[in-house]
Amino acid sequence: MCGIVGYIGNQDASDILLKGLSNLEYRGYDSAGIALLNAEGVHIFKEKGRIAALRNIVDPNVRATMGIGHTRWATHGEPNRRNAHPHQSASGRFAIVHNGVIENFASLRDQYLSGVPLRSDTDTEIVVQLIECFVTGGMGVEAALRKTLKLVEGSYAIALLDRENPEMIYVGKNKSPLLIGVGDGFHVVASDATAMIQQTKQYVELMDEEIVLLTRDSYVIKDLDGKVKRRKPYTVSFDARDTEKGAYPHYMLKEIDEQPAVLRRLLQKYEDETGHLSVDSAITRAIQNADRLYIVACGTSYHAGLVGKQLIEQIAQIPTEVHISSEFSYNTPLLSKKPLFIFISQSGETADSRTVLVKVKKMGYPTLTLTNVEGSTLYREADYKMLLYAGPEIAVASTKAYTAQIAVLSFIAIAAAESKGIALDFEPIHELSFVAQAMERMIDQKAQLKEIARNYLSVTRNAFYIGRGIDYYVCMEAALKLKEVSYIQAEGFAGGELKHGTIALIEDGTPVLAFTTQPNVNNSIRSNVQEVSTRGAYTCIISMEGVTDKPDDQIVLPKVHRFFTPLVCAIPLQLIAYYAALQNECDVDKPRNLAKSVTVE
Ligand code: F6R
Repeated sequence: MCGIVGYIGNQDASDILLKGLSNLEYRGYDSAGIALLNAEGVHIFKEKGRIAALRNIVDPNVRATMGIGHTRWATHGEPNRRNAHPHQSASGRFAIVHNGVIENFASLRDQYLSGVPLRSDTDTEIVVQLIECFVTGGMGVEAALRKTLKLVEGSYAIALLDRENPEMIYVGKNKSPLLIGVGDGFHVVASDATAMIQQTKQYVELMDEEIVLLTRDSYVIKDLDGKVKRRKPYTVSFDARDTEKGAYPHYMLKEIDEQPAVLRRLLQKYEDETGHLSVDSAITRAIQNADRLYIVACGTSYHAGLVGKQLIEQIAQIPTEVHISSEFSYNTPLLSKKPLFIFISQSGETADSRTVLVKVKKMGYPTLTLTNVEGSTLYREADYKMLLYAGPEIAVASTKAYTAQIAVLSFIAIAAAESKGIALDFEPIHELSFVAQAMERMIDQKAQLKEIARNYLSVTRNAFYIGRGIDYYVCMEAALKLKEVSYIQAEGFAGGELKHGTIALIEDGTPVLAFTTQPNVNNSIRSNVQEVSTRGAYTCIISMEGVTDKPDDQIVLPKVHRFFTPLVCAIPLQLIAYYAALQNECDVDKPRNLAKSVTVE
């Protein structure tokens, strides 16, 4: 959903901006641009496609020590050079980059800009034209910016250059994420800290409806009425190396491999002095006070939520519902008397989830966010928070954040059970350490999983994953992962549901991959495999050693406690998707049409 950067200091801005945009490419990559400001004026370079294409057209002779940049995930106007940011005002005095959606752009255009020739199909251009329109009418730039931002409805993170003022970048934020980075004699602007981590580890959070007047030596935060707000920087907890690929060909592969380490880190982070897994007592109390938990999330995080429901209901015996954020907003279910809302979001910025958070907070209900990004919007705005400690996840397809989400949900279930006096039939840290080892063993089987992808998924246009119970939720994630990175049409089905319609799609050679890790449904899912195999499907069974395995199964997972099987299943489902994507020559880390941080509804 677009990434923006800005730099004002004394070094070559174009190089810093291009590097920053490369780090933000996961947010959108259909076009990109930068604007540089020096004594000769504003210089704009933009190009369709990736940052590499932009880099080729930036004139190295243009030297500037301030500028702004943008990588786009198109919403208004097709992805081409004309619609790429930065956009300029009619006179060329102002240049703007924007992440978000201006919902009332059409009415603002009609009301204020009837005489202004527009040069793009974007909602963004309206903002820069409005600012110029108010400045031409006699306002100062800051006042014009505040007036414009009061008029616009929707979401924005913007950075603005003014040809007449080479000492300042103007910044504004509402709903879309934006940080100010603080350095010695310079400042940066970034949609997230990974973009500019090579420059600084000190960042200042911005709240909604704030602007910033940014110079080389100062940042002045104000609200839209011009009232100054003071806020100190914080230090981000990762460094530049965490955002690098190292020897890996793709971030996705690196992040898959990191999962055992992430799980071990989580166990350390949530272990108390007595060696027990523990959750903040305020969170445990909030769970105790609730009569029902409502998990709200999107995509992969929603799938982690489905596994979490199973864990919370079975381990802690607390009724739990899981909802897709974008549905919950308008299709709100009947709520219990004392709900607690749990938001799961890797990025902490997903607009669909945030809409629900704002809504349920207004209703007065308590909220807890599980996120990987400290200081993100969902982190800041929830009453309670738990971090995923997965480290920056750069590949667009979520892998290590998914397993970290499941792990943290299991910690919640365990803590809630203990607070209710429910005896556990396992020792959590011990079992989860086994899980980390089991994940490692699966990671070591890359050659075999690559072979499965070659064998089952090299010539097909579609595939099915089937499972029952907790394995069904794993199948939903397996299908999503396969679809998004390899573009193979895939569905995850409950094994018993196939015969109620979907089995009509099975023909000779259709790949059907079944997960079976739970003894109580092993026979039934194997019957479902038989049903499709009889109709020509090419079947693959992924079972668990000493629990559900049979001699001819294609993949046998190391045995772990029945509650934690999804953590181990995650490795083959992710690696199969990864290798299928390589076979199809897809751009694994940046699948088409997707963006990592979905900040529009
Ligand atoms: C898929 C994927 C997405 C995200 C979804 C929610 O691999 O990454 O489905 O899970 O867009 O994003 P977050 O978790 O950031 O709220």
